[in-house]
Amino acid sequence: MLKMTDVHVEAEGKEILKGLDLTIRPGEIHALMGPNGAGKSTLAKALAGDPSLSVTRGEIFFLGRELTALSVEERARLGLFLTFQDPVEVAGVSNFEFLFAAESAKRRAQKEECLSEESFRKSLLEKMDFVDRKEEWLKRGLNQGFSGGEKKRNEILQLAVLKPRLTLFDEIDSGLDVDALKLLAKTLKERRTPEQSYLFITHYSRLLQQIEPHFVHILLDGRVVKTGGPELARLLEEEGYEGVLEEADIQK
Ligand SMILES: Nc1ncnc2c1ncn2[C@@H]1O[C@H](COP(=O)(O)OP(=O)(O)O)[C@@H](O)[C@H]1O
Ligand SMILES: [Mg+2]
Repeated sequence: MLKMTDVHVEAEGKEILKGLDLTIRPGEIHALMGPNGAGKSTLAKALAGDPSLSVTRGEIFFLGRELTALSVEERARLGLFLTFQDPVEVAGVSNFEFLFAAESAKRRAQKEECLSEESFRKSLLEKMDFVDRKEEWLKRGLNQGFSGGEKKRNEILQLAVLKPRLTLFDEIDSGLDVDALKLLAKTLKERRTPEQSYLFITHYSRLLQQIEPHFVHILLDGRVVKTGGPELARLLEEEGYEGVLEEADIQK
């Protein structure tokens, strides 16, 4: 699904990712943890195709395609979905229009027949069991006037509709209240398919108690220095980075 090998990324001449390796296979849930400034968001932005970053060395393959050769739109159409700390607000496009357009574009890319507006609306309403005034929610401008928690809920809805192959959350837990966190965990549990993979970038193991990742990676100074199972997140919570990483790991 995603294979990153010896990836180096620079911003403004400064090297931020310094030989990062990461492999995510279909159906796997991964967590990436690391102290402030380790390069976590840079990894997310590099995958998204942020123009201020350049991949100077290494390889990134997504579904067998060299990711850096793909436009931002092509990445999305292939099924790469990224959520950011602060989702954008878009006036003039309603939530419904956005979801319908995105879902139709995805179907066209996969050479499937598009749903009629009517049947799309019906299937959409069934996925909105966590929203009170559903019709009103869909009519509002994309994320417009939404609180932080509502924007995150909107992303969870987008997830349920678009069923991306790989979803990357950058610190989703920092903007998420406990109820929304539970909703996210529930959505994942109920709707996850064997083709879908997830990468959670987070500081806190609180999220990981709900999500239960298969693999936990620790990013330090632009490199993955340790990979383990869920127990690594718990250990990190108790002992901090220094406790978890032995000398050898840090000097690697
Ligand atoms: N566009 C940029 N130009 C210069 N330095 C940057 C840029 N983006 C990030 N950095 C630096 O790269 C390092 C890693 O940042 P970031 O990926 O945001 O870390 P994290 O998300 O792990 O806290 C930081 O030292 C940050 O200041
Ligand atoms: Mg960050």
